[in-house]
Amino acid sequence: MEMGSLEHRKLLARFFIDSHVEYDPERIEWPRLPEHDLARLTGLPFWQEAVSTENVTSNTVAAAAALEPDPDVRKAIELQGLEENRHARLLVALTSHYRIDVRLPAPFEPKSLEDDFLFAGFGECFDSFFAFGLFALAAESGYFAPDLVAVFEPVIQEEARHILFFVNWVKYRRSQLPWWRRPLFRLRCGWIILRQVASRVKTARTMGGDGATSDNFTLSAHQDLGAPITLHRLLDLCLRENDRRMQRYDARLPRPRLVPILAQLAHRVLPASW
Ligand SMILES: [Fe+2]
Ligand SMILES: [Fe+2]
Repeated sequence: MEMGSLEHRKLLARFFIDSHVEYDPERIEWPRLPEHDLARLTGLPFWQEAVSTENVTSNTVAAAAALEPDPDVRKAIELQGLEENRHARLLVALTSHYRIDVRLPAPFEPKSLEDDFLFAGFGECFDSFFAFGLFALAAESGYFAPDLVAVFEPVIQEEARHILFFVNWVKYRRSQLPWWRRPLFRLRCGWIILRQVASRVKTARTMGGDGATSDNFTLSAHQDLGAPITLHRLLDLCLRENDRRMQRYDARLPRPRLVPILAQLAHRVLPASW
């Protein structure tokens, strides 16, 4: 399938719209947690960061729908905005139900529709990849009660759809530009990816420090999820979960590649004891 072709564009929109799942965060029945589990959940340090991230992403994505002239692709981006908004509402519902103290940020206003969408999208490619592994770890180790895992499962799967949609949208978007503007678009994407990598490297360097806050909580979250795990095994888990979650979608859509390739590389060079 040629990237940017009519077939690609139709599949891009169709896959996303067809795999949308209905649920209402305000009607979730939150499981009663034993005191010990509750203390662990409320003690996780990343709720504030999660609420802020979903606020930025949901407003950025919702606004980016205006970029899109094609009605089906626009509808898919709007739907993604709605899903991100639902993540933010889900976190509000969770934190208020379990009385976790978070500040609700003022709605984020994107400055540049395309740049902010690209920045958020590439950021999600990193965060979701690690979230897949961390979520599997928390489920496997019993760190999260099975009822709670069931509530979050559709959210994690939505992030897999988001990054699959995003990488295909980037290819589609690039193909719509006149040939002479494509190199600049690639450069812009490269620059944004570098900024995202730099911010993750900063996080990695503060890992094991005194819990300095970070933009990228999924990278350091494994330290808070209780189960002892080496980085080597975590990478392996992320890679397997990434494949498993992506398998559900049409094989003609190219998968996000950069983060899995970097993870594979790290997995190969890191000693198993790390
Ligand atoms: Fe999200
Ligand atoms: Fe997302």
